[in-house]
Amino acid sequence: ADPVAFYGPHQAGITTAMQDHLHFVAFDVVTTDRAKLVELLQNWTAATARMTAGLEAGALGAVRGPAWAPPEDTGEALDLPAAGLTVTVGFGAGLFRDAQGRDRFGLAGRTPAALAELPKFPGDQLDPAISGGDLCVQACANDPQVAVHAVRNLARLGMGVVSVRWSQLGFGRTSVTSTTQTTPRNLFGFKDGTANLKEEDGPLLDEQLWVAPGDGPEWMAGGSYLVSRKIRMLIETWDRTPLAEQEAIVGRSKGVGAPLGLPNEHDEPDFTIRGDDGEPMIPEVAHARLAHHTNHNGARMLRRGYNFVDGSDGFGRLNAGLFFISYQRDPRRQFVPVQQALARQDVMNEYIRHVSSGLFAVPPGVTAADDYWGRKLF
Ligand code: HEM
Repeated sequence: ADPVAFYGPHQAGITTAMQDHLHFVAFDVVTTDRAKLVELLQNWTAATARMTAGLEAGALGAVRGPAWAPPEDTGEALDLPAAGLTVTVGFGAGLFRDAQGRDRFGLAGRTPAALAELPKFPGDQLDPAISGGDLCVQACANDPQVAVHAVRNLARLGMGVVSVRWSQLGFGRTSVTSTTQTTPRNLFGFKDGTANLKEEDGPLLDEQLWVAPGDGPEWMAGGSYLVSRKIRMLIETWDRTPLAEQEAIVGRSKGVGAPLGLPNEHDEPDFTIRGDDGEPMIPEVAHARLAHHTNHNGARMLRRGYNFVDGSDGFGRLNAGLFFISYQRDPRRQFVPVQQALARQDVMNEYIRHVSSGLFAVPPGVTAADDYWGRKLF
């Protein structure tokens, strides 16, 4: 794949046509030295500009440096192309005020209101060890080794400044972020991403995805907010569910991915169509109906999730699911009300468990070689 442009008004890896693999990592900042944190963000920016162009993390690379020093690149992506690599960075609430309420870096006054802690949703079974974080890095690529290499080299550069809090590998995109892409399937076997925001959506992206200058704080203009939810899918239970019931739960057909009652995938759902029994073809509690923007004052989001299988769980079941990622202009008006409706009423809840959660302010893009992630914040 061609390298994806790193510089621009928005970070790459949001509307970029979704790559096939994900390595997502959340870091805790372990220093209280503001200068070290800024230096790290500068180093990360420089290394990422190189890696997304298909180069090694440092100029001396894996093998051209002095024999007595550890190499500037870990080497496992030597001989591999850029593979569409994007690296997207976000700031968690802990960067502004840590768990003890300390303002370690003098940033508390610049906290975005939209970074307010997500409410606890009914049914949440969140594990704090794999939730939250002061910084997040989303690496996406069409080769999993390239994504892992990017994260590993950033973690290496961060030694003494950050430590990995949790990380997640994802294989197989479960969404579409460009009209040029075909719709993939999630582990329930359904097409996922049909009704997503896409890079071709123009003015709708300014309305729904990007933080506008007046939204505040000013340093976030051109950025977006990332919500991550690791959602375990109880696939063995799902696999014993009849086809018609699966389709009623989602609100779409399994084969074509069409809204129930209509023939084509991209037909706009019509919630007034009734079946022979007089009931709505798309039940009131169907997932895609509860989540539809017409039920949420027009609120949409850009979904960018990945399938995961983390081995098995020791009880004879696959530890599998969806690592859900959504980007939006303000989670309080988008993710939160939609998830509130889903958590309360979605019949899919019988088959899923939310086990981790994250919320990050994703600053605007890096515009030139002397710019760095979060420059306007510091
Ligand atoms: C639509 C699956 C979790 C928000 C869909 C569709 C499927 C699906 C198959 C229909 C195809 C499409 O338009 O993309 C799943 C599965 C989930 C999950 C398996 C969990 C394991 C979530 C969560 C949210 C969400 C946590 C947000 C809080 C949406 C939205 C739509 C959608 C906004 C589009 C609805 C429309 O406008 O038609 N999902 N989803 N989903 N989902 Fe999910």
